Amino acid sequence: MDADEIAGALKLDKASDIPLYAQVRDLLLKEIREARLAEGRRLPPVRRLATLTGVNIMTVARAYKELAELGAIAGRGARGTFVLPRRIAAAEAPATAEKDLRTLRADYANRDVDTFRRMVQMSDVPGMIPFTRAYPDASVIDTSSFEGHLKKAIDARPDYAYSYISPAGLPSLRRAIAKVMRRARGLDLASDDIVITSGGQQALNLVAQLLLKPGDVVLVERPTYFGALDLFRNLGVEPVGVDLESDGPDLGMMESLIESRSPKLLFLMPTFQNPTGLTTSLEKRKAILELSRRRGIAIIEDDCGTELRYRGKPIPSIKSLASDEDPVFYIVGMGKAYIPGIRLGFVAAPTHRVSDIIKMKSISDLHTSPLYQDAFQHYLASDAASKNLALVCSKYRDLLDTVVSELERNMPDGTGLVKPQGGLNLWVTLPSGIDSIDFFLAALQRNVSILVGAHLFPENPDQRSFRLSFGFPDKQATIRGVRALAAAVKDLARPASSRFAAVV
Ligand SMILES: Cc1ncc(COP(=O)(O)O)c(C=O)c1O
Repeated sequence: MDADEIAGALKLDKASDIPLYAQVRDLLLKEIREARLAEGRRLPPVRRLATLTGVNIMTVARAYKELAELGAIAGRGARGTFVLPRRIAAAEAPATAEKDLRTLRADYANRDVDTFRRMVQMSDVPGMIPFTRAYPDASVIDTSSFEGHLKKAIDARPDYAYSYISPAGLPSLRRAIAKVMRRARGLDLASDDIVITSGGQQALNLVAQLLLKPGDVVLVERPTYFGALDLFRNLGVEPVGVDLESDGPDLGMMESLIESRSPKLLFLMPTFQNPTGLTTSLEKRKAILELSRRRGIAIIEDDCGTELRYRGKPIPSIKSLASDEDPVFYIVGMGKAYIPGIRLGFVAAPTHRVSDIIKMKSISDLHTSPLYQDAFQHYLASDAASKNLALVCSKYRDLLDTVVSELERNMPDGTGLVKPQGGLNLWVTLPSGIDSIDFFLAALQRNVSILVGAHLFPENPDQRSFRLSFGFPDKQATIRGVRALAAAVKDLARPASSRFAAVV
Protein backbone atom coordinates (compact mmCIF):
# COMPACT_ATOMS: atom_id res chain seq x y z
CA MET A 1 0.00 0.00 0.00
CA ASP A 2 1.33 3.43 -0.84
CA ALA A 3 0.39 6.60 1.03
CA ASP A 4 -2.64 7.26 -1.17
CA GLU A 5 -3.93 3.71 -0.72
CA ILE A 6 -3.46 3.92 3.03
CA ALA A 7 -5.30 7.22 3.15
CA GLY A 8 -8.02 5.71 0.94
CA ALA A 9 -8.49 2.87 3.42
CA LEU A 10 -9.13 5.33 6.26
CA LYS A 11 -12.85 5.91 5.86
CA LEU A 12 -13.31 8.48 8.60
CA ASP A 13 -16.69 9.50 9.92
CA LYS A 14 -16.39 13.07 11.11
CA ALA A 15 -19.96 13.04 12.48
CA SER A 16 -19.27 10.02 14.72
CA ASP A 17 -18.88 10.39 18.47
CA ILE A 18 -15.71 8.29 18.20
CA PRO A 19 -12.76 10.72 18.23
CA LEU A 20 -10.97 10.99 14.88
CA TYR A 21 -7.62 9.90 16.30
CA ALA A 22 -9.28 6.69 17.56
CA GLN A 23 -10.80 6.09 14.13
CA VAL A 24 -7.41 6.57 12.45
CA ARG A 25 -5.77 4.28 15.02
CA ASP A 26 -8.37 1.53 14.69
CA LEU A 27 -8.54 1.65 10.90
CA LEU A 28 -4.76 1.47 10.62
CA LEU A 29 -4.76 -1.38 13.11
CA LYS A 30 -7.28 -3.23 10.99
CA GLU A 31 -5.05 -2.82 7.91
CA ILE A 32 -2.10 -4.13 9.93
CA ARG A 33 -3.99 -7.06 11.42
CA GLU A 34 -5.41 -8.05 8.07
CA ALA A 35 -1.88 -7.83 6.63
CA ARG A 36 -2.67 -5.28 3.95
CA LEU A 37 -0.13 -3.13 5.76
CA ALA A 38 2.64 -5.67 6.01
CA GLU A 39 5.40 -6.03 8.57
CA GLY A 40 8.28 -3.65 7.82
CA ARG A 41 6.08 -1.35 5.73
CA ARG A 42 6.89 2.35 6.18
CA LEU A 43 3.88 4.49 7.13
CA PRO A 44 3.38 7.90 5.51
CA PRO A 45 4.81 10.78 7.55
CA VAL A 46 2.25 12.29 9.95
CA ARG A 47 1.90 15.52 8.02
CA ARG A 48 1.35 13.73 4.70
CA LEU A 49 -1.31 11.36 6.05
CA ALA A 50 -3.03 14.29 7.76
CA THR A 51 -3.15 16.19 4.45
CA LEU A 52 -4.36 13.17 2.49
CA THR A 53 -7.14 12.38 4.97
CA GLY A 54 -8.10 15.99 5.71
CA VAL A 55 -7.48 15.79 9.46
CA ASN A 56 -5.32 17.69 11.89
CA ILE A 57 -1.64 16.70 12.24
CA MET A 58 -2.22 16.11 15.98
CA THR A 59 -4.92 13.57 15.14
CA VAL A 60 -2.54 11.42 13.11
CA ALA A 61 0.29 11.98 15.61
CA ARG A 62 -1.89 10.72 18.45
CA ALA A 63 -3.05 7.70 16.44
CA TYR A 64 0.59 6.82 15.65
CA LYS A 65 1.57 7.29 19.29
CA GLU A 66 -1.15 4.92 20.47
CA LEU A 67 -0.31 2.38 17.79
CA ALA A 68 3.28 2.51 18.97
CA GLU A 69 2.12 1.95 22.57
CA LEU A 70 0.12 -1.04 21.37
CA GLY A 71 3.27 -2.47 19.81
CA ALA A 72 1.89 -2.31 16.28
CA ILE A 73 4.31 0.28 14.84
CA ALA A 74 7.58 1.96 15.83
CA GLY A 75 9.35 5.18 14.87
CA ARG A 76 12.92 4.73 13.64
CA GLY A 77 14.19 8.31 13.82
CA ALA A 78 14.62 10.11 10.51
CA ARG A 79 13.93 6.90 8.57
CA GLY A 80 10.24 7.06 9.47
CA THR A 81 7.61 4.92 11.18
CA PHE A 82 7.33 1.21 10.39
CA VAL A 83 4.88 -1.63 10.94
CA LEU A 84 6.23 -4.09 13.49
CA PRO A 85 5.93 -7.89 13.36
CA ARG A 86 2.49 -8.84 14.62
CA ARG A 87 2.21 -9.78 18.26
CA ILE A 88 0.38 -13.02 18.74
CA ALA A 89 -3.17 -12.14 19.60
CA ALA A 90 -5.10 -15.06 21.02
CA ALA A 91 -7.95 -13.82 18.88
CA GLU A 92 -5.89 -14.57 15.79
CA ALA A 93 -4.24 -17.76 16.93
CA PRO A 94 -6.63 -20.53 17.84
CA ALA A 95 -3.78 -22.96 18.51
CA THR A 96 -2.27 -20.56 21.06
CA ALA A 97 -5.61 -20.15 22.75
CA GLU A 98 -5.98 -23.89 23.12
CA LYS A 99 -2.49 -24.16 24.58
CA ASP A 100 -3.22 -21.22 26.89
CA LEU A 101 -6.37 -22.92 28.04
CA ARG A 102 -4.40 -26.03 29.02
CA THR A 103 -1.62 -24.12 30.80
CA LEU A 104 -4.08 -21.85 32.53
CA ARG A 105 -5.94 -24.85 33.84
CA ALA A 106 -2.68 -26.34 35.13
CA ASP A 107 -1.75 -23.03 36.76
CA TYR A 108 -5.12 -22.92 38.40
CA ALA A 109 -4.59 -26.39 39.78
CA ASN A 110 -1.15 -25.31 41.08
CA ARG A 111 -2.58 -22.07 42.49
CA ASP A 112 -0.18 -19.97 40.42
CA VAL A 113 -0.70 -16.46 41.80
CA ASP A 114 0.33 -14.81 38.58
CA THR A 115 -2.37 -16.45 36.48
CA PHE A 116 -4.51 -13.35 36.82
CA ARG A 117 -1.77 -11.04 35.56
CA ARG A 118 -1.16 -13.37 32.63
CA MET A 119 -4.83 -13.32 31.75
CA VAL A 120 -4.88 -9.53 31.84
CA GLN A 121 -1.80 -9.54 29.58
CA MET A 122 -3.52 -11.93 27.18
CA SER A 123 -6.38 -9.42 26.98
CA ASP A 124 -4.09 -6.53 26.19
CA VAL A 125 -3.63 -6.89 22.45
CA PRO A 126 -4.42 -4.52 19.61
CA GLY A 127 -7.98 -4.53 18.37
CA MET A 128 -9.48 -6.09 21.50
CA ILE A 129 -12.72 -4.62 22.90
CA PRO A 130 -11.57 -4.15 26.49
CA PHE A 131 -14.43 -4.93 28.87
CA THR A 132 -11.65 -5.00 31.45
CA ARG A 133 -11.34 -1.19 31.49
CA ALA A 134 -12.88 0.18 34.69
CA TYR A 135 -11.97 3.84 34.39
CA PRO A 136 -13.18 6.67 32.13
CA ASP A 137 -11.46 6.90 28.77
CA ALA A 138 -9.19 9.89 28.11
CA SER A 139 -11.43 10.90 25.19
CA VAL A 140 -14.25 11.62 27.66
CA ILE A 141 -12.04 13.71 29.95
CA ASP A 142 -11.45 17.42 29.51
CA THR A 143 -7.72 16.89 29.21
CA SER A 144 -7.14 20.26 27.54
CA SER A 145 -8.38 22.07 30.61
CA PHE A 146 -6.07 19.97 32.80
CA GLU A 147 -3.18 20.63 30.43
CA GLY A 148 -3.86 24.37 30.76
CA HIS A 149 -3.60 24.06 34.54
CA LEU A 150 -0.40 22.04 34.19
CA LYS A 151 1.15 24.79 32.14
CA LYS A 152 -0.03 27.43 34.60
CA ALA A 153 1.38 25.41 37.49
CA ILE A 154 4.79 25.36 35.82
CA ASP A 155 4.73 29.00 34.73
CA ALA A 156 3.51 30.37 38.06
CA ARG A 157 5.73 28.39 40.44
CA PRO A 158 8.50 26.48 38.63
CA ASP A 159 10.44 26.21 41.91
CA TYR A 160 7.43 24.55 43.52
CA ALA A 161 6.46 22.37 40.57
CA TYR A 162 9.86 20.75 40.40
CA SER A 163 10.88 20.55 44.03
CA TYR A 164 10.36 18.15 46.92
CA ILE A 165 7.38 18.85 49.17
CA SER A 166 5.90 17.57 52.42
CA PRO A 167 4.75 13.91 52.32
CA ALA A 168 1.21 14.92 53.32
CA GLY A 169 0.75 16.70 50.00
CA LEU A 170 0.08 20.26 48.89
CA PRO A 171 -2.08 22.11 51.42
CA SER A 172 -4.02 23.68 48.54
CA LEU A 173 -4.93 20.26 47.12
CA ARG A 174 -5.88 18.94 50.55
CA ARG A 175 -8.21 21.93 50.94
CA ALA A 176 -9.62 21.53 47.41
CA ILE A 177 -10.35 17.85 48.09
CA ALA A 178 -12.06 18.65 51.40
CA LYS A 179 -14.26 21.14 49.53
CA VAL A 180 -15.12 18.70 46.73
CA MET A 181 -15.91 15.93 49.24
CA ARG A 182 -18.31 18.30 51.02
CA ARG A 183 -19.98 19.42 47.79
CA ALA A 184 -20.09 16.11 45.90
CA ARG A 185 -20.39 13.61 48.74
CA GLY A 186 -21.81 15.57 51.70
CA LEU A 187 -18.74 14.45 53.64
CA ASP A 188 -17.05 16.79 56.11
CA LEU A 189 -13.31 16.14 56.19
CA ALA A 190 -10.74 18.39 57.83
CA SER A 191 -8.10 19.15 55.20
CA ASP A 192 -5.42 18.39 57.81
CA ASP A 193 -6.77 14.82 58.05
CA ILE A 194 -6.20 14.26 54.33
CA VAL A 195 -2.93 12.75 53.09
CA ILE A 196 -2.36 12.85 49.34
CA THR A 197 -1.31 9.55 47.78
CA SER A 198 -0.32 8.22 44.38
CA GLY A 199 -3.75 6.78 43.61
CA GLY A 200 -6.22 4.74 45.62
CA GLN A 201 -3.97 1.69 45.52
CA GLN A 202 -1.23 3.47 47.45
CA ALA A 203 -3.82 4.80 49.90
CA LEU A 204 -4.89 1.21 50.55
CA ASN A 205 -1.30 0.10 50.83
CA LEU A 206 -0.38 2.75 53.41
CA VAL A 207 -3.32 1.96 55.67
CA ALA A 208 -2.85 -1.81 55.34
CA GLN A 209 0.85 -1.54 56.18
CA LEU A 210 0.07 0.65 59.15
CA LEU A 211 -2.61 -1.58 60.64
CA LEU A 212 -1.66 -5.13 59.71
CA LYS A 213 1.10 -7.60 60.35
CA PRO A 214 1.72 -11.06 58.91
CA GLY A 215 -0.74 -13.63 60.19
CA ASP A 216 -3.57 -11.12 60.70
CA VAL A 217 -7.01 -11.70 59.25
CA VAL A 218 -8.96 -9.13 57.21
CA LEU A 219 -12.62 -9.48 56.33
CA VAL A 220 -13.37 -8.60 52.73
CA GLU A 221 -16.51 -8.72 50.64
CA ARG A 222 -16.89 -11.81 48.42
CA PRO A 223 -16.03 -11.07 45.63
CA THR A 224 -13.71 -8.12 46.14
CA TYR A 225 -11.18 -5.84 44.44
CA PHE A 226 -8.23 -7.86 43.11
CA GLY A 227 -5.67 -5.17 44.08
CA ALA A 228 -6.74 -5.52 47.72
CA LEU A 229 -6.54 -9.32 47.72
CA ASP A 230 -3.14 -9.13 46.08
CA LEU A 231 -1.89 -6.61 48.63
CA PHE A 232 -3.19 -8.46 51.69
CA ARG A 233 -1.71 -11.75 50.52
CA ASN A 234 1.63 -10.10 49.82
CA LEU A 235 1.66 -8.68 53.35
CA GLY A 236 1.16 -12.20 54.71
CA VAL A 237 -2.36 -11.27 55.80
CA GLU A 238 -5.27 -13.65 55.30
CA PRO A 239 -8.30 -12.23 53.51
CA VAL A 240 -11.52 -13.96 54.57
CA GLY A 241 -14.71 -13.43 52.59
CA VAL A 242 -18.13 -12.22 53.74
CA ASP A 243 -20.91 -12.98 51.24
CA LEU A 244 -22.58 -10.06 49.54
CA GLU A 245 -26.35 -9.69 49.48
CA SER A 246 -28.23 -7.24 47.27
CA ASP A 247 -28.01 -4.57 50.01
CA GLY A 248 -24.42 -5.24 51.11
CA PRO A 249 -22.46 -7.72 53.22
CA ASP A 250 -24.24 -10.54 55.04
CA LEU A 251 -24.12 -9.12 58.57
CA GLY A 252 -24.81 -12.44 60.30
CA MET A 253 -21.83 -13.98 58.52
CA MET A 254 -19.70 -10.93 59.28
CA GLU A 255 -20.51 -11.13 62.97
CA SER A 256 -19.82 -14.84 63.21
CA LEU A 257 -16.49 -14.45 61.37
CA ILE A 258 -15.55 -11.66 63.74
CA GLU A 259 -16.27 -14.10 66.57
CA SER A 260 -14.38 -17.02 65.07
CA ARG A 261 -11.48 -15.32 63.22
CA SER A 262 -10.83 -12.11 65.22
CA PRO A 263 -10.05 -9.93 62.16
CA LYS A 264 -8.03 -6.75 62.55
CA LEU A 265 -9.75 -4.95 59.74
CA LEU A 266 -12.84 -4.75 57.54
CA PHE A 267 -12.07 -3.80 53.94
CA LEU A 268 -15.28 -2.53 52.33
CA MET A 269 -16.48 -0.76 49.20
CA PRO A 270 -20.01 0.29 50.19
CA THR A 271 -20.80 2.25 47.01
CA PHE A 272 -20.72 0.61 43.55
CA GLN A 273 -18.64 -2.20 44.93
CA ASN A 274 -15.86 -3.53 42.72
CA PRO A 275 -16.56 -5.96 41.04
CA THR A 276 -20.31 -6.39 41.64
CA GLY A 277 -21.49 -2.77 41.39
CA LEU A 278 -23.65 -3.37 44.49
CA THR A 279 -24.33 -0.59 47.00
CA THR A 280 -24.62 -1.22 50.73
CA SER A 281 -27.81 0.18 52.31
CA LEU A 282 -27.71 2.94 54.92
CA GLU A 283 -29.00 0.52 57.58
CA LYS A 284 -26.14 -1.89 56.92
CA ARG A 285 -23.56 0.91 56.91
CA LYS A 286 -24.80 1.98 60.35
CA ALA A 287 -24.80 -1.61 61.59
CA ILE A 288 -21.24 -2.20 60.31
CA LEU A 289 -20.01 0.95 62.03
CA GLU A 290 -21.71 -0.18 65.22
CA LEU A 291 -20.05 -3.59 64.93
CA SER A 292 -16.65 -1.99 64.40
CA ARG A 293 -17.16 0.14 67.50
CA ARG A 294 -18.34 -2.77 69.63
CA ARG A 295 -15.46 -5.02 68.55
CA GLY A 296 -12.77 -2.36 68.13
CA ILE A 297 -12.10 -3.33 64.51
CA ALA A 298 -10.78 -0.78 62.04
CA ILE A 299 -12.54 -0.16 58.72
CA ILE A 300 -11.04 0.78 55.39
CA GLU A 301 -13.82 2.35 53.38
CA ASP A 302 -12.71 2.38 49.74
CA ASP A 303 -14.87 4.97 48.02
CA CYS A 304 -13.46 5.39 44.51
CA GLY A 305 -15.82 6.81 41.92
CA THR A 306 -18.90 7.48 44.05
CA GLU A 307 -19.60 10.53 41.87
CA LEU A 308 -20.37 8.19 38.95
CA ARG A 309 -23.98 7.75 40.09
CA TYR A 310 -26.47 7.48 37.25
CA ARG A 311 -29.67 6.95 39.21
CA GLY A 312 -30.95 6.62 42.78
CA LYS A 313 -30.10 8.79 45.76
CA PRO A 314 -26.57 9.05 47.21
CA ILE A 315 -26.14 7.20 50.52
CA PRO A 316 -23.93 8.70 53.24
CA SER A 317 -20.52 7.05 53.48
CA ILE A 318 -19.55 5.14 56.63
CA LYS A 319 -16.93 7.83 57.20
CA SER A 320 -19.62 10.51 57.29
CA LEU A 321 -21.55 8.51 59.91
CA ALA A 322 -18.42 7.99 62.03
CA SER A 323 -16.91 10.25 64.67
CA ASP A 324 -13.24 11.13 64.76
CA GLU A 325 -12.74 8.50 67.49
CA ASP A 326 -13.89 5.73 65.15
CA PRO A 327 -11.05 3.88 63.38
CA VAL A 328 -12.47 4.53 59.90
CA PHE A 329 -9.89 5.13 57.18
CA TYR A 330 -11.48 6.61 54.10
CA ILE A 331 -9.56 6.04 50.86
CA VAL A 332 -10.22 7.44 47.42
CA GLY A 333 -8.52 7.17 44.03
CA MET A 334 -9.36 10.33 42.10
CA GLY A 335 -8.89 8.60 38.72
CA LYS A 336 -12.28 6.91 38.61
CA ALA A 337 -14.34 10.09 38.47
CA TYR A 338 -11.82 12.76 37.49
CA ILE A 339 -8.53 12.13 35.68
CA PRO A 340 -7.28 8.57 35.42
CA GLY A 341 -3.59 8.08 34.86
CA ILE A 342 -2.29 11.02 36.88
CA ARG A 343 -2.29 8.73 39.92
CA LEU A 344 -3.80 10.98 42.57
CA GLY A 345 -5.72 9.77 45.57
CA PHE A 346 -5.92 10.29 49.31
CA VAL A 347 -6.44 8.79 52.75
CA ALA A 348 -8.64 10.60 55.26
CA ALA A 349 -7.62 9.14 58.61
CA PRO A 350 -8.89 9.71 62.16
CA THR A 351 -6.97 12.79 63.39
CA HIS A 352 -4.80 10.87 65.85
CA ARG A 353 -3.59 8.50 63.08
CA VAL A 354 -2.77 11.15 60.45
CA SER A 355 0.88 11.45 61.47
CA ASP A 356 1.24 7.66 61.16
CA ILE A 357 -0.16 7.75 57.62
CA ILE A 358 2.19 10.62 56.73
CA LYS A 359 5.08 8.54 58.03
CA MET A 360 3.98 5.55 55.91
CA LYS A 361 3.69 7.83 52.88
CA SER A 362 7.17 9.16 53.48
CA ILE A 363 8.60 5.64 53.81
CA SER A 364 6.79 4.58 50.64
CA ASP A 365 7.78 7.32 48.18
CA LEU A 366 8.44 10.60 50.07
CA HIS A 367 5.61 12.42 48.30
CA THR A 368 3.45 12.54 45.18
CA SER A 369 4.39 14.82 42.25
CA PRO A 370 3.78 18.46 43.25
CA LEU A 371 3.27 19.43 39.62
CA TYR A 372 0.30 17.10 39.22
CA GLN A 373 -1.01 18.04 42.65
CA ASP A 374 -0.92 21.74 41.87
CA ALA A 375 -2.48 21.39 38.42
CA PHE A 376 -5.15 19.05 39.81
CA GLN A 377 -6.13 21.38 42.64
CA HIS A 378 -6.69 24.17 40.09
CA TYR A 379 -8.65 21.77 37.89
CA LEU A 380 -10.81 20.58 40.81
CA ALA A 381 -11.56 24.15 41.83
CA SER A 382 -12.56 25.13 38.29
CA ASP A 383 -15.95 24.71 36.64
CA ALA A 384 -14.29 22.38 34.13
CA ALA A 385 -14.12 19.51 36.66
CA SER A 386 -17.80 19.54 37.59
CA LYS A 387 -18.91 20.12 34.00
CA ASN A 388 -16.74 17.25 32.83
CA LEU A 389 -18.07 15.00 35.57
CA ALA A 390 -21.63 15.64 34.35
CA LEU A 391 -20.53 14.70 30.84
CA VAL A 392 -18.76 11.56 32.04
CA CYS A 393 -21.88 10.51 33.98
CA SER A 394 -24.18 11.01 31.02
CA LYS A 395 -21.83 9.12 28.70
CA TYR A 396 -21.51 6.15 31.04
CA ARG A 397 -25.19 6.11 32.06
CA ASP A 398 -25.97 5.64 28.38
CA LEU A 399 -23.29 2.96 27.99
CA LEU A 400 -24.51 1.10 31.08
CA ASP A 401 -28.06 1.07 29.71
CA THR A 402 -26.76 -0.12 26.35
CA VAL A 403 -24.74 -2.95 27.88
CA VAL A 404 -27.62 -4.05 30.09
CA SER A 405 -30.16 -4.07 27.28
CA GLU A 406 -27.76 -5.88 24.93
CA LEU A 407 -26.98 -8.47 27.59
CA GLU A 408 -30.66 -8.98 28.33
CA ARG A 409 -31.48 -9.32 24.66
CA ASN A 410 -28.58 -11.58 23.64
CA MET A 411 -27.35 -13.69 26.55
CA PRO A 412 -29.02 -17.09 26.98
CA ASP A 413 -31.55 -17.98 29.67
CA GLY A 414 -29.92 -18.72 32.97
CA THR A 415 -27.57 -15.70 32.79
CA GLY A 416 -27.56 -13.63 35.99
CA LEU A 417 -26.96 -9.89 36.00
CA VAL A 418 -26.48 -7.37 38.80
CA LYS A 419 -27.64 -3.95 37.58
CA PRO A 420 -25.74 -1.18 39.35
CA GLN A 421 -26.89 2.40 39.91
CA GLY A 422 -23.48 3.75 39.01
CA GLY A 423 -19.81 2.98 38.53
CA LEU A 424 -18.24 1.21 35.58
CA ASN A 425 -18.63 -2.46 36.50
CA LEU A 426 -21.32 -5.07 35.86
CA TRP A 427 -21.31 -8.52 37.42
CA VAL A 428 -22.56 -11.31 35.21
CA THR A 429 -23.11 -14.96 36.08
CA LEU A 430 -23.05 -17.46 33.22
CA PRO A 431 -25.66 -20.20 32.81
CA SER A 432 -24.82 -23.35 34.73
CA GLY A 433 -22.35 -25.68 33.04
CA ILE A 434 -20.25 -22.84 31.60
CA ASP A 435 -16.92 -22.16 33.23
CA SER A 436 -15.67 -18.57 33.26
CA ILE A 437 -12.12 -19.49 32.17
CA ASP A 438 -13.44 -21.31 29.10
CA PHE A 439 -15.63 -18.30 28.53
CA PHE A 440 -12.69 -15.89 28.91
CA LEU A 441 -10.80 -17.73 26.16
CA ALA A 442 -13.84 -18.05 23.89
CA ALA A 443 -14.41 -14.30 24.32
CA LEU A 444 -10.75 -13.55 23.53
CA GLN A 445 -11.16 -15.48 20.31
CA ARG A 446 -13.88 -13.04 19.43
CA ASN A 447 -11.69 -10.04 20.30
CA VAL A 448 -13.37 -9.23 23.60
CA SER A 449 -11.69 -9.30 27.01
CA ILE A 450 -13.45 -9.67 30.35
CA LEU A 451 -12.24 -10.21 33.91
CA VAL A 452 -12.71 -13.74 35.19
CA GLY A 453 -14.57 -13.60 38.50
CA ALA A 454 -12.81 -16.55 40.12
CA HIS A 455 -9.75 -14.40 40.87
CA LEU A 456 -11.77 -11.99 42.93
CA PHE A 457 -12.72 -14.38 45.70
CA PRO A 458 -10.51 -14.89 48.75
CA GLU A 459 -11.58 -18.52 48.89
CA ASN A 460 -14.11 -20.92 47.28
CA PRO A 461 -14.23 -19.05 43.98
CA ASP A 462 -17.41 -18.82 41.99
CA GLN A 463 -16.42 -20.35 38.60
CA ARG A 464 -19.31 -18.94 36.59
CA SER A 465 -19.09 -15.17 37.04
CA PHE A 466 -17.22 -12.41 35.32
CA ARG A 467 -16.82 -8.65 35.56
CA LEU A 468 -17.78 -6.59 32.54
CA SER A 469 -16.41 -3.04 32.77
CA PHE A 470 -17.58 -0.45 30.30
CA GLY A 471 -14.97 2.32 30.53
CA PHE A 472 -14.19 1.91 26.80
CA PRO A 473 -16.38 4.66 25.36
CA ASP A 474 -17.16 3.44 21.85
CA LYS A 475 -20.86 2.59 21.86
CA GLN A 476 -20.92 0.66 18.60
CA ALA A 477 -17.90 -1.42 19.63
CA THR A 478 -19.58 -2.00 22.99
CA ILE A 479 -22.68 -3.35 21.29
CA ARG A 480 -20.54 -5.57 19.06
CA GLY A 481 -18.61 -6.70 22.11
CA VAL A 482 -21.68 -7.76 24.08
CA ARG A 483 -23.04 -9.63 21.06
CA ALA A 484 -19.67 -11.34 20.71
CA LEU A 485 -19.90 -12.41 24.37
CA ALA A 486 -23.31 -13.95 23.70
CA ALA A 487 -21.83 -15.74 20.68
CA ALA A 488 -18.94 -16.96 22.86
CA VAL A 489 -21.44 -18.56 25.25
CA LYS A 490 -22.96 -20.34 22.25
CA ASP A 491 -19.45 -21.47 21.18
CA LEU A 492 -19.11 -23.16 24.53
CA ALA A 493 -22.40 -24.94 24.18
CA ARG A 494 -20.91 -26.76 21.14
CA PRO A 495 -18.99 -30.03 21.53
CA ALA A 496 -15.44 -29.46 22.83
CA SER A 497 -13.70 -30.69 19.64
CA SER A 498 -15.22 -27.95 17.52
CA ARG A 499 -14.32 -25.12 19.94
CA PHE A 500 -11.59 -22.62 19.12
CA ALA A 501 -12.18 -22.95 15.41
CA ALA A 502 -11.38 -19.98 13.22
CA VAL A 503 -13.15 -16.83 14.24
CA VAL A 504 -15.42 -15.22 11.67
C1 LIG B 1 -12.04 -0.44 44.50
C2 LIG B 1 -10.75 0.11 44.03
N1 LIG B 1 -9.89 0.60 44.93
C3 LIG B 1 -8.70 1.10 44.55
C4 LIG B 1 -8.34 1.12 43.23
C5 LIG B 1 -7.01 1.70 42.84
O1 LIG B 1 -7.23 2.99 42.45
P1 LIG B 1 -6.10 3.87 41.75
O2 LIG B 1 -6.16 3.53 40.31
O3 LIG B 1 -6.52 5.26 42.04
O4 LIG B 1 -4.81 3.49 42.37
C6 LIG B 1 -9.20 0.62 42.27
C7 LIG B 1 -8.80 0.61 40.86
O5 LIG B 1 -9.31 -0.10 40.04
C8 LIG B 1 -10.44 0.11 42.68
O6 LIG B 1 -11.31 -0.38 41.80
